[in-house]
Amino acid sequence: EVLIAANAEEAAKLAATAVLDGLAMRTSGNNVLGVATGSTPLGLYAELAKAVANGKADFTNTLAFALDEYVGLEGTHEQSYRQTLVHELCKIIGLREENLNTPDGFGDSEAQIRTQSAHYDAAITAAGVDVQILGIGANGHIGFNEPGSSLRSRTRIKRLSAKTRQDNARFFDGIDSVPTHSVTQGLGTILDARRLVLVATGAHKAEAIATALEGPLSSACPASVVQLHPDAVVVLDEAAAAGL
Ligand code: GLP
Repeated sequence: EVLIAANAEEAAKLAATAVLDGLAMRTSGNNVLGVATGSTPLGLYAELAKAVANGKADFTNTLAFALDEYVGLEGTHEQSYRQTLVHELCKIIGLREENLNTPDGFGDSEAQIRTQSAHYDAAITAAGVDVQILGIGANGHIGFNEPGSSLRSRTRIKRLSAKTRQDNARFFDGIDSVPTHSVTQGLGTILDARRLVLVATGAHKAEAIATALEGPLSSACPASVVQLHPDAVVVLDEAAAAGL
């Protein structure tokens, strides 16, 4: 389902409704929410916070799993995605920090990080994600599944593309400080979520969105896997939808 809103604010509202409706489909136990970093979901998180304030949502007992984390940064590092989510999500919507799960890309060896990645993937499978929130990279990545990612991949170490490192350099002291690798949920892991809610706003996302939604299913555009999902909601503003 592709929803096109007049602007980013309206897109955030539609996305929040899609997330809350998806969470409401769970009939027993606590909700499990898949969460994303990036600037795009911030409007959605603000809308979820409004729903909490209005008594329409409560994330106190919600379990969350993040899409990705940088390799080499501890979860306490200010630029880690864990800390980003603590500040930009947990504190905003009242999700408990101890209920936020993030991949662990910190370890003494590659083997250790691989083991941690496999454990993370197994924890996601055991919990079962109700709704996975997604942004999209300008190169069509979701999470940190860069072009060329296996369509059935599970949580693993991925090298970041030059474009992605450039795009994310603004959060670090220059390009040299940006980690070269990440641990990211795989495309297969993401597809296991019961509902996907992908949000994209702005003209710089128009090409990636057109390729993902109307191009062939291809590892060259990892976001094209949304075509495989039985309950994928894609929420766009007019600028991001311009190439459709
Ligand atoms: C990062 C994240 C992605 C996110 C992307 C786009 O690379 N790993 O999950 O979708 O950035 O970010 P933004 O929403 O800021 O454009």
